[in-house]
Amino acid sequence: MRLGIVTLGGDCSGLNSVIYGAYKTAKNKDIALIGFNDGIKGLIDNNYIIMDDKVCDETLLSRSGTILRTNNVYIHKLLNEGMSPSDIYEKILSNYESNSLDGLIYIGGDGSMRIAREMLSHNKDKMKIVAIPKTIDNDIFMTDFSIGFKTALDSIVENLERIRSTIASHERIAVVEVMGRDAGFLAMYSGIASGSDIILVNEFTHNFEAILKKIKSCYDGVKNHCIIIVAEAVELDGLKHNINATKLSKEYTHHTYNGVGKVLADKLVSHGYDAKHISLGHTQRGGITSIDDRIMGAAYGAKAVEMLMEGKTNKMLYMKSGNLNAIDIFHDDVTKKKLLRPDDEIVSFAKNMGIYCGEI
Ligand code: F6P
Repeated sequence: MRLGIVTLGGDCSGLNSVIYGAYKTAKNKDIALIGFNDGIKGLIDNNYIIMDDKVCDETLLSRSGTILRTNNVYIHKLLNEGMSPSDIYEKILSNYESNSLDGLIYIGGDGSMRIAREMLSHNKDKMKIVAIPKTIDNDIFMTDFSIGFKTALDSIVENLERIRSTIASHERIAVVEVMGRDAGFLAMYSGIASGSDIILVNEFTHNFEAILKKIKSCYDGVKNHCIIIVAEAVELDGLKHNINATKLSKEYTHHTYNGVGKVLADKLVSHGYDAKHISLGHTQRGGITSIDDRIMGAAYGAKAVEMLMEGKTNKMLYMKSGNLNAIDIFHDDVTKKKLLRPDDEIVSFAKNMGIYCGEI
């Protein structure tokens, strides 16, 4: 057997662990593995490397990013240049066939899952895929925790330790903006793990007076500083801030957020507080891969190889309650987004500990 592996969409920690798990399993079963470089670009341009012991050594387990690199703009560039989707997918199929592949391990986010569906629909039964979901945002409906989430949390919480020492020394307020796109999981979990006072997420509305009241309570003569975690998509005064919309093609615009932390800190300064804003940005996508992401990533990689050996294809793997399961890649739930809900246990914990999480 000969399999391919590719990483698509934004990077996150744990991708290299998937590659490691897939490689070790393939090697153990005498299966050859090739790795396509640069995500969809490598599939289209037939740019790949042979995976061997040198490429896939043990350091992959802890290394963030992806050794195969990723590129999520190339397909839109080709579409903009007038190439048709069917020409693109035919090129991918022809490379798949010329490499005599028996299957492709396809690691990506929801956008990549949509591309996989189009590719499979176009190429009918000629391609076999097992897809693996990943994102630091933890917003994949099917999973409890997605690959990349736990390492991103480690990075945030580690940075918060550094932030707290200076903020406490000066009796200041820190407004720390974290990623997560529209989902508040990174904010909620990191806020709890770092002992933050206020956690603002996009899912729940908040009241500025209540924020001020909570801040005042932090200046009690003992604590005298305040840490606020704000998720990047939070609305302030009815507005989302610094939405960056990059139109990649007629059909697709890449949205990112950045700036609500500064707007909130400025507002607190105008109320007489010494507030500093810190946007952790892409530091959240790096760091040493957490143990959870290593094990989960390697398990996903190993399972994907097994599935392709057993002829179970065109599925997305997902992990729920510690078990790996598979769902048809065309199922609606595959691209469904998960958001924080007021009745999530984690939200109750935060509220019960006195953290202000919004008007819930
Ligand atoms: O989806 C992962 C994520 O890191 C989001 O949390 C963030 O909003 C976005 O990607 C940033 O995208 P980019 O790396 O394209 O700036």
